[in-house]
Amino acid sequence: MTTILSTVPIDLGERSYSIAIGSQLLGNPATFAALPNATSAFVVSNTSVAPVYAQSLIGALQERYPRVHLITLPDGEAFKTWEVLNQIFDALLTNGADRKAVLFALGGGVVGDMTGFAAACFMRGIAFVQVPTTLLAQVDSSVGGKTGINHPLGKNMVGAFYQPELVVCDLDTIKTLPQRELSAGLAEIIKYGPIADLQFLEWIESHLDNLLAREVAALAHAVERSCQIKAMVVGQDERESGLRAILNFGHTFGHAIEAGMGYGKWLHGEAVGCGMVMAAHLSQRLGLVEMAFVKRLTALVRRAKLPVIGPVLDPKDNAGRYLELMRLDKKSEAGEIRFVLIDGPGTAIMRSASDVLVREVIDTCCTDLL
Ligand code: NAD
Ligand code: GLY
Repeated sequence: MTTILSTVPIDLGERSYSIAIGSQLLGNPATFAALPNATSAFVVSNTSVAPVYAQSLIGALQERYPRVHLITLPDGEAFKTWEVLNQIFDALLTNGADRKAVLFALGGGVVGDMTGFAAACFMRGIAFVQVPTTLLAQVDSSVGGKTGINHPLGKNMVGAFYQPELVVCDLDTIKTLPQRELSAGLAEIIKYGPIADLQFLEWIESHLDNLLAREVAALAHAVERSCQIKAMVVGQDERESGLRAILNFGHTFGHAIEAGMGYGKWLHGEAVGCGMVMAAHLSQRLGLVEMAFVKRLTALVRRAKLPVIGPVLDPKDNAGRYLELMRLDKKSEAGEIRFVLIDGPGTAIMRSASDVLVREVIDTCCTDLL
């Protein structure tokens, strides 16, 4: 039975929208009833997700729109490129899309980021809807309007802030997610506790087994609270001129791990999980948080089946390689790395730290002493 378990509003003035969270949503025409009329709908998905979920979504949309088309992209981060983006434009133009066409992103963060960017660019901007099917996409990437593609010289380097009309988080899709992808999503859920909500961190600690078992009630609360926190942050700082950067807790170390290992070796969420442990250690070294909290966070990340020991990126000068990669982070200013740190449990700040201290943290975190 279709159930909307909760709705989270994103308050961005004329760009406001809502996130529907529940069960059996994507196959129900009622889910999409409040969307504005459109001349045609295009479901953008990939070769793994489309065979499982596209028919159901297309069936619902056919009751709403005169024409519905499916665009199937290759699956994987390696295909988040100009060439594949162009396949979306080719399909839109070949099938007569106009300014009143609407795109539906059906898939994880890769499909969501690419579809959003295509919507931002096509005819200078058309409507789009996010239908995220990974936990990571439901709690993070589908919300807040960051869209884009990768450049050979850097991840997510080309893109736009462009908000969807609606986000539909159908929790049933999480049932088919591979275990590693589930854990990657848990990393982004855990992230919200230390930076913004200690009570939520406690809730995750006591419900982690329910989340690992993919229980709908637990998933519903985790997705709802994560989206509420993200909505609160994005509502204050849509274009990341300050506050929004706290959503990157664990990402500075994590991006270095992803790049240093070679993209795809560690999943983004796995690198973020380990990166949060490293950022917590740095916070402790700077006197911002007790070691007891670092151990607590490490234990939770480990229980979520995420790595907690940093990989060695260069046996000759491991810390030097991390530092080199972290200087390329988008938050760096004039070559100075800006870290998101925990300033007491439940609060985040942005700070730089001396290379000496960062090297000590990397040396500690890349051994199995944790
Ligand atoms: P992904 O999109 O690659 O999906 C992971 C894998 O799961 C893929 O193979 C996909 O086909 C498969 N999959 C998706 N849904 C499934 C389902 N229900 N059942 C079975 N398999 C399924 O990865 P992701 O973790 O969802 O997203 C990562 C991307 O998101 C990265 O490109 C990252 O840069 C981006 N991102 C963007 C933001 C943002 O704010 N826009 C935030 C975080 C991450
Ligand atoms: N995922 C970080 C952000 O949306 O800002």
